[in-house]
Order: sequence, then structure tokens, then C-alpha cells
Amino acid sequence: MKKIIKYLAIMLLTAGALFGADKETGHLLIYAGLMEDYAIKATKEFEKQTGIKTEFVRMSSGETLARVRAEKDNMTASVWYGGPVDAFVAANEEGLLEPYVSPEAVNIPDNFKDKSGIWTGIYVGYLGFVGNKKLLKEIGVEMPQSWADLLNPKLKGELVTAHPGSSGTAYTMLATIIQLKGEKDGLEYMKQLHGQIRQYTKSGTAPGTMVGMGETAVGITFLHDAIKYRKEGYEDIIISAPSEGTGFEIGGVAILKNGPDQAAAKKFVDWVLTAKTQEIGQTVGSYQFLTNKDANNPPEGKEIEKAKLIEYDFQWAGKSRKELLDKFSAATNAEIPTK
Ligand code: G6P
Repeated sequence: MKKIIKYLAIMLLTAGALFGADKETGHLLIYAGLMEDYAIKATKEFEKQTGIKTEFVRMSSGETLARVRAEKDNMTASVWYGGPVDAFVAANEEGLLEPYVSPEAVNIPDNFKDKSGIWTGIYVGYLGFVGNKKLLKEIGVEMPQSWADLLNPKLKGELVTAHPGSSGTAYTMLATIIQLKGEKDGLEYMKQLHGQIRQYTKSGTAPGTMVGMGETAVGITFLHDAIKYRKEGYEDIIISAPSEGTGFEIGGVAILKNGPDQAAAKKFVDWVLTAKTQEIGQTVGSYQFLTNKDANNPPEGKEIEKAKLIEYDFQWAGKSRKELLDKFSAATNAEIPTK
């Protein structure tokens, strides 16, 4: 009898290995930092192709970082998918990420990935301004073309940005300003900008919809998000990129340390790095530039490809996150919004 049980157990294990036990039993929870419709489409497609039940929670970068920090000893999700890698660098400083060099990473140029596999880039997004041309006309201001233009007294109370503590978009803005102007002048600029701000939002995409709906004249956001909202019907949206230079994000993917289903997590990472998967974004209005050398960039990117970019230092930005946020808070007293 014992022999039969042992034999059956070996048979089951072998079958599991051959047919991928993951496939039948795998369940994947993902913290997604990209647009919700993009996360829905990608996770559904992955589930369809692999049979691995895949769910996601959409959070802004700062929220994800706080969540994985709190879950350090009991990680419930396995993958962090999307959002600027500054927060991934910060998470790695706290030992929250599991390095993984995917075989697919050979198709991602070196400047878009961490060489030890802490994070791998899936897209690139440029920071800029979104304006409502009707409202701007009403208040008699031209669309801002520079960081300096945002301080125009006529725009007082008309500017919206996310808060850098919750949003990766807004953290990109803060780190961009400090890199452009140096710490002292950069913080002084943030203080002056604070005087212009109507509202800090939690997510980086909210300023785009608020401007589109005509609630406020100008927002700071990733330009591809503003293009999405314009295409979806907010016709008064116009965009510009600051003439002094602007920052950009590398949106990343990473495996969370001690998260369940590590084998399924690796499969997911391999899959999102492929050209085909990266091209899913543009089918639901996510128009970032893509990192896989064989992927076709969305034609919508043409409008912004000439933006002047700074040499954004992701390592520095990630490692300085806490310090910069403390300094931002001291300079502005702006509180992290709850919604
Ligand atoms: C949107 C953009 C992404 C970006 C993300 C950051 O989803 O399409 O490119 O990575 O926002 O979100 P957050 O709310 O953290 O600023």
C-alpha cells in the first residue's frame, strides 16, 4: 500500500512539473501603477494565455511603496507593475524587491533596466503641462511653455498637480525641479509654485481630467496621459513641454520579495517585457514610448517626441526620495491627499 502511495505521489509530482503546476494552481496578485484600463487588459490577456488567475490593485507609486513596506513580513502581492522606477529604487533600498533578470530583458536597452534585475523598464513617459484652452482664454493667459511661466500671477489658484508623496508623476516633477535648479533654488521654486496650486491630487492622472472637465486651467502631468484624455473627448485639452527641459519616467516592473507564486511572478515579468505585450498599452490609450527594441511605439508619441529632456538620474531620485519629500513638506506644508 505504502509503495502505491509513494508511486502515485511521484506520478503527481512529475505530471505537475511537466504540465506546469503553476498553470492549474497559480494565483497572482499584482500592484499596478499604470492606468486601470491598461492593467485590466494586460492581466486578462495574461490569464487567458497562461491559465494563471491574475488580479490587480491599482495604486499610485507612493501608495504602493507604503503598502509593500507595511507588508514586508507578509507580502500578499508578487509583482509591482508600472509607475516610475524612482519608487522601485527606494523600495530596493529597504530590501523589498527580489532581483530577477528575465531572459526577455536582452531586448531592453541598458539605460532602461537595472543591470542586476531589481527593476526592468517597460515604458517611458515625458512630464509636461496640460491646459484647457477655453479657460486659459477666459482668464487671458497663454498656455505655459516653461516652468517659469507657471508662476504667472494670473495662474494663481489655477494650477493642479498631484502630491509627490503619493504620486510617481509628481515625484518625477519634484526630482526634475531639483535636478534642473539645484536643491536650494529648486525648493524655493516649489515653495512659489505651492502658492499657485489650487489642489494637490493623490494620483498623477487626476490633473488631466480636472483640466479636461474645465475645473481648472493648467495641470502638471505626464503628457501621454493628457493625450489620452484629449482623444477620449476632452477636446479643450492642449499640451506643452517646458522649454528649460523636463523630466521623464521609466515605468518599471519588479518582483516583490517574499511574495507568493514567485514562479508565476517571473512568468508575468517575462511576458510584460515582450514587444507584443508592451503594445497592448496603446490599444487602451496608454501612449508611453516602449522599451522593447522590437516594439512599435504609438504614433501619438510623435507630438511630444521633441520635448527637451534633462538627464534624469533615477538612482539619485530613488535614493533621495525620503529626504526630498521631507524637504518638500517643510517648504510647502502640503499634506498628502487621501483621494
Ligand atoms: C499613469 C501613467 C503612467 C504613470 C502613472 C503614475 O498611469 O499613464 O505612465 O507611470 O500614471 O501614476 P501616479 O499616480 O503614481 O503618478
